[in-house]
Amino acid sequence: MKIQGSVAIVTGGAQGIGEKICTALLDRGCKVVILDVQREKGCQLEERLKRRYGSEKVIFITCDVTSKFQMKDSFRKTKETFGQINIVCNNAGILGQNESDAWEKVVDVNLKGVILGTFLGVLHMGQSHGGSGGVIINVASMAAIFPMGPDQAVYTATKAGVCGFSQSAGGLKDTEGIRVNCICPSFTETELVLPLLGHGLSGEKNLEYRDLVLEQGLISPELIASGVIQLIENDNNNGAVMMVTKKRGIEFMRPRKSRKSKL
Ligand SMILES: NC(=O)c1ccc[n+]([C@@H]2O[C@H](COP(=O)([O-])OP(=O)(O)OC[C@H]3O[C@@H](n4cnc5c(N)ncnc54)[C@H](O)[C@@H]3O)[C@@H](O)[C@H]2O)c1
Repeated sequence: MKIQGSVAIVTGGAQGIGEKICTALLDRGCKVVILDVQREKGCQLEERLKRRYGSEKVIFITCDVTSKFQMKDSFRKTKETFGQINIVCNNAGILGQNESDAWEKVVDVNLKGVILGTFLGVLHMGQSHGGSGGVIINVASMAAIFPMGPDQAVYTATKAGVCGFSQSAGGLKDTEGIRVNCICPSFTETELVLPLLGHGLSGEKNLEYRDLVLEQGLISPELIASGVIQLIENDNNNGAVMMVTKKRGIEFMRPRKSRKSKL
């Protein structure tokens, strides 16, 4: 797909990997709508990007991916502002937490948020809904492939869910003209990994992760963004699982055959 002249929605785009995905898309002449719960950070980023790329190229909308109403409204506003949607990148995610009910939020953001973003993408871009097709990229994690410890079991489950969902949704290419792919980053240099490095937290478990992070190494968020661009630009990528690690760089999981059906 040609990114130049396209319109993309990026969830969790106010910082970290999402921010780098936004700038990589803008660099290639895409218009970008940043969705994030962090209003102040999102507005500041919007201002910076408008100065760099032009005021008509980017907008920020405060949006919680766990809210159906806010998500629907954000997709509607995107179409109203830019006239079309061609790319959806479901990137928003949070690390697992074990306290009482906190795990449900991890499922709501990391898995249900991705599914909702994908379904809304189908509604707005799908050929059976009057759209002209598009690309959806879902951000999973290497945790889906090499599980983490019990305190990150829910996070791991959500990311494995995102992988399976994206591989299955690859079947939408035939029915809706939409390619769906997912990317599995290993530890990446963003605020998300700070708790794993022991920042602000203490205890053996976190020290254990710190050793794992140091052993695996930290990837730059720019490399993840370049993987996302590759998944968008190469029309052969569909139902693909891209893995990104410090030691091996970008590689693909061997494709599995899926049954084709309508979502
Ligand atoms: N950093 C890593 O090591 C790593 C590794 C593998 C996968 N990932 C995944 O990459 C994605 C981006 O993570 P990151 O490392 O950039 O983390 P980050 O914490 O720097 O950024 C995540 C962004 O998502 C936003 N967000 C959180 N909950 C939201 C919600 N309910 N609605 C909308 N926005 C929300 C946050 O405000 C933040 O801006 C996540 O899905 C994460 O699981 C990260």
